Formats: sequence, structure tokens, C-alpha cells
Amino acid sequence: MKRRLFTAFSCLLLAFIPAVVNASGAREANTDRRLEIFSWWTAGGEAEGLEAMFSIYRTRYPTVSIINATVAGGAGSNAKAVLATRMQGGTPPDSFQVHAGHELIDSWVVAGKMEPITFIFRDNGWLESFPKGLVDIISYKGEIYSVPVNIHRSNVLWYNKKIFADNHLTPPRTLAEFIGVAESLARRGITPIALGDSGIWASVHLLESVLLGTMGPARYKGLWMATTPWDGPEVRRALKTFAMLLGFVNADHAALSWDGAVQYVIDGKCAMTIMGDWAEGYFKAKGLTPNKEFGWVPSPGTEGSFIALSDSFGLPRGAPDREAAVQWLTISASREGQDAFNPKKGSIPSRTDGDRSLYDEYQKSAMDSYKSDIIVASVTHGAAAAEGWLALIQDTISTFVSDRNVDKAVTSLTKAAAQYTKK
Ligand code: GAL
Repeated sequence: MKRRLFTAFSCLLLAFIPAVVNASGAREANTDRRLEIFSWWTAGGEAEGLEAMFSIYRTRYPTVSIINATVAGGAGSNAKAVLATRMQGGTPPDSFQVHAGHELIDSWVVAGKMEPITFIFRDNGWLESFPKGLVDIISYKGEIYSVPVNIHRSNVLWYNKKIFADNHLTPPRTLAEFIGVAESLARRGITPIALGDSGIWASVHLLESVLLGTMGPARYKGLWMATTPWDGPEVRRALKTFAMLLGFVNADHAALSWDGAVQYVIDGKCAMTIMGDWAEGYFKAKGLTPNKEFGWVPSPGTEGSFIALSDSFGLPRGAPDREAAVQWLTISASREGQDAFNPKKGSIPSRTDGDRSLYDEYQKSAMDSYKSDIIVASVTHGAAAAEGWLALIQDTISTFVSDRNVDKAVTSLTKAAAQYTKK
């Protein structure tokens, strides 16, 4: 009886322990335990998706406070440098967003900065719940090193349905049609393509779609394996097309972020944009419905191919609260976590058993394509090449966007490839 009274009293007491308010305004339990999750998800859709997973964590572990450590800047354009400084300085967060593939393995795992987390998959019986191809690119020497929380598609063209209907246009399926549609929009005084490359990655993102659309999946894969030359006719052709497309983008592209560019499509300031399907999360966060106000097609020339990338979370060595980090990773790997996160994020679950009924029309189409298309890796988002190689590509494209000099770009892209591939 005494014991029961005591329990009731402690519950009452707990109810009055003051809560603190975190940066995002959410109330957290006031305890010493903290789970710091580092990411660059600050825009509409991505922030909501992250919050949906936080909410599961809070319900399960109410005594741990979540620190939502975000550094704004699409594709980690600012976050990655901040993370590198922290990792080098021995002050890692408990877990951080990292792209599956080269970004994870080359940058962090080989350098000995991560703990293997195969046990999370094994202990929960999840070793078979993820596609083998994906497990391969998060593994090193037989151990798994991160939890892939989604699959994103990079090669998508999004368009404003009203502009297309008003101008009797159909979304372009080939690169030639893309230029044709852009020309007719420009003639009518409408800026055809929205680009927000204040982080140069957004231009590289557009280029990867153009490379694939120009040469097809087998030759595109060869770019990363030294079987397709960077100084051959296809890359030249792709760069010429890319230069033409740059002639149709909004004048303020260098001052705009990726979500700013998507907003231009929403506002009717531009007719279309090529962006990964986190754009879908953004459209929805702004209250739009797929296939009502906005439509999509594979980036021109890429039908039948799926440029894939995956956001994942890992366990850095020296995570301040390892136990909380493992709890977070377990939620990220779970069906419940993925089905809370991805419907808002615009991506599809990386698990093969996600609940399809929770996903919208666009996402169902992405699920189908992921099953039937040829999968190739995104270079812009860490899957296809080492970060050092990507940095050299970004430098080249940064210059190319202003000088449009194909020969110069070919020379420097070829040099970059030679540094990172063995013939
Ligand atoms: C990508 C990332 C996506 C999304 C996007 C824009 O690199 O994989 O999840 O966050 O950047 O920031």
C-alpha cells in the first residue's frame, strides 16, 4: 500500500517537472539525457519528416531530450563542413545524416570514425528487410555501417500544371522536347526552368539528369567505373545541352536555394524544375496535391532509369549517448519509423515492407519505378563517387555555369576522373 502511494506521488511529482522548449518550439522532458541528431533537413517536407520520427522517439523515450542539430543548405552544402570539423575535433553528434554509398564509406567508415551496426539489423530480424543492393553500399568488410531511412529519386522533372495546360504544352519526354518546350515558354514570356544553385550542387544535380538522358544508364554507370570516357562525344553533347538549358533558367538562380526554385514553380514564376523528390515533400508541405497543381515525369531522356540515393544515419565512434543513438537508429530502421518519415519527405521507404497505402500517387509511381527501372547511382548525393571527386566536379560546374566553355569543362572533368579511377 505504502509502495503504491509512493508511486502515485512520484507520478504526480513527475507531472510537475518543468519542460524545456527546444529550438523548433517543441516541449521536451527536462532531463540530463540528450540525443543530438545532426542533419540538413530544414525545408518544408524534410523538416516535417524528421519531426515525425522524433515524435516516435519522444513517445518511446520521454526522458531523453532531442537536440535537433540542423545546418541549413541543401544536399549538406554547409552541414558537411560543420560535421567534418566536429568529427575531427572529437565532438560528434549522437547520430548524423549521411548518404549511403561513397559518402558514408569513403569519408567516415574507412577512416575508422564509425561503429558497425549490423547488430541492430540482426537483433531485430531485419537483415532481409532491405534490398541487397542497398545493404551492399552501406557495408564494409562484412559489417553494416548505417541505417538507410529512404530511397530518393533524383531524375524527376516537376511542372506547374496550370502553366502547361494554359499553354497547351505536354511535359517533355526527351532532351530535344525539353529544349522545344523551353523555347515556346520563353517566347510567351514565361521563365521555363527554375534553378536554385546558391549551392552549386543544384546545377550538378541537373547535369546528372542530362548526362543520363544523353547517354543512357549503361554509359552513365561507366562514367564512375572508367569505362565511359569523360572526353568522349557523349559528355560533350551533354555539356552542350546543359549549357542550352542554362539559357532558360531564372536570372537570380545563383542567389536561390533548391526550395526557393520549387517555390517559383508553385508561384508560377517558372514552369518546371529538375529536382530530387524531396521537392515532392516541399510541394505537399505547401498544401499542394500531386497531379492537381503539380505534375512530374522522369527527367527528359531518362524514362526507364532511376537515379537513386539514400539518406542514412550512422553511429559515430564516441557518440555522447550511445544508447540513445542506438534507439534512434532502431526507430529509423523500423517499418513504423520509415512509414512516418517518408510520406512527408517525398521519398519511399528503403525497407521492402513499407505500407504502400500510406503513400501518395507520386510515391506509388516511384515505388513502381524503383522495382522495374534500371537503378543507377546519384553522384550529386554521395552514392556514385567519392566526395573528393564530387568536389572537383562541383568546382568545374561552378565555372561552367558562368563561362559555358565545353572544352575547358571536358579537360577538367577528365582530369578529375583520372584521379579517382584506375583504368
Ligand atoms: C539531399 C538529401 C535529401 C534532401 C536534399 C535537399 O542530398 O539526400 O534528403 O535533404 O539533399 O536538402
